[in-house]
Amino acid sequence: RDMELEKLLQAHEWTSKLYHYLLKNTEHGKPALEYLRSRGINDKAIDTFQIGYAPARWDTLVQFLDKRSFELKVMEKGGLISSKQDGTGFVDRFRDRVIFPLHNRTGKVIAFAGRILGDGQPKYLNSPESKLFSKSRTLYNLHQAKTDIRKTRQFVLFEGYGDVISAWDAGVHNGVATMGTSLTESHANIMRSLADEVIVCYDGDNAGQAAALKSISILEGVGFNTKIALLSDGLDPDEFIQKYGAERFKSQVLDGAVTSVKFKLIYLKKNHILLEEDGKIAYIKDALEIIAPLPSPTEREIYLQDLSADLQVSFDSLKQECNELRQAMQ
Ligand code: CTP
Ligand code: MN
Ligand code: MN
Ligand code: MN
Ligand code: MN
Repeated sequence: RDMELEKLLQAHEWTSKLYHYLLKNTEHGKPALEYLRSRGINDKAIDTFQIGYAPARWDTLVQFLDKRSFELKVMEKGGLISSKQDGTGFVDRFRDRVIFPLHNRTGKVIAFAGRILGDGQPKYLNSPESKLFSKSRTLYNLHQAKTDIRKTRQFVLFEGYGDVISAWDAGVHNGVATMGTSLTESHANIMRSLADEVIVCYDGDNAGQAAALKSISILEGVGFNTKIALLSDGLDPDEFIQKYGAERFKSQVLDGAVTSVKFKLIYLKKNHILLEEDGKIAYIKDALEIIAPLPSPTEREIYLQDLSADLQVSFDSLKQECNELRQAMQ
């Protein structure tokens, strides 16, 4: 038995309870509670996700852990506290932040993410990698989502904590997120052991769309059927839900998710100026690179028809060019 590991697990559990209590029941927690409410996060969500608050003082957690006889050196290794610059003791790692506990697959707390109240840097402060916590293998909310995921064989993959929480509140219970890192093959393999389909629901800004493109290739690489939700005006899913409501999020964004081929075509189109002939020709060339390798002739036909209608180019010439490219590829 790894005693250090067990102590760290225990300490994380206690810490999560402490922060949750401080948020809900103390004066210190009031501004954080106000902040969460202003973002539309209700009491039920606060409980479901065990959201908490780390006070501004330097040693709330240090004192708390010390009183319970946790070895502070070990706690530091686990990223709960930090050692002082001059080496004379320890200080809390998370101060004056809203705390989102991160759980492993079986529901044990293994790390924390702390969000600043309002603007400021860094926006999120995360636990460091430790014996307990590996970013590249952890998916936020997997422990709660796995029941629904097994039933539906489907995931919704988000970028952020707030997106998962708002979606949950909207009735979408198969949502998970990576934590500020891009999706890894380990993440994808873990997901694949539970489901066959993913809806990638990243932020509607350029960064989100570029990240989606990368995630698609990783997800399809492990055999997922992948769809992509499109968000307008650079909104993220959380902002969309707060602005337009749960029903529109489900019926418009999730049910309207497009195939990865369609997403790539839309994405490509943004990079070409279609008013000019050479822009149009370049776009068609790029689009055919995506369509030509598709194994199904009907699938190719559907996308070519779309393209033909969209650009007012004859279907026959598109098909001919696609077939030539396909031959060249073989
Ligand atoms: N992230 C992080 N550190 C940062 C910024 C982002 O770890 N300084 C991670 C967080 O997991 C965050 C995710 O990347 O949830 C997505 O980033 P972003 O879209 O910028 O944040 P939001 O989740 O939208 O955060 P919020 O709604 O709280 O502003
Ligand atoms: Mn509670
Ligand atoms: Mn983002
Ligand atoms: Mn976001
Ligand atoms: Mn957000």
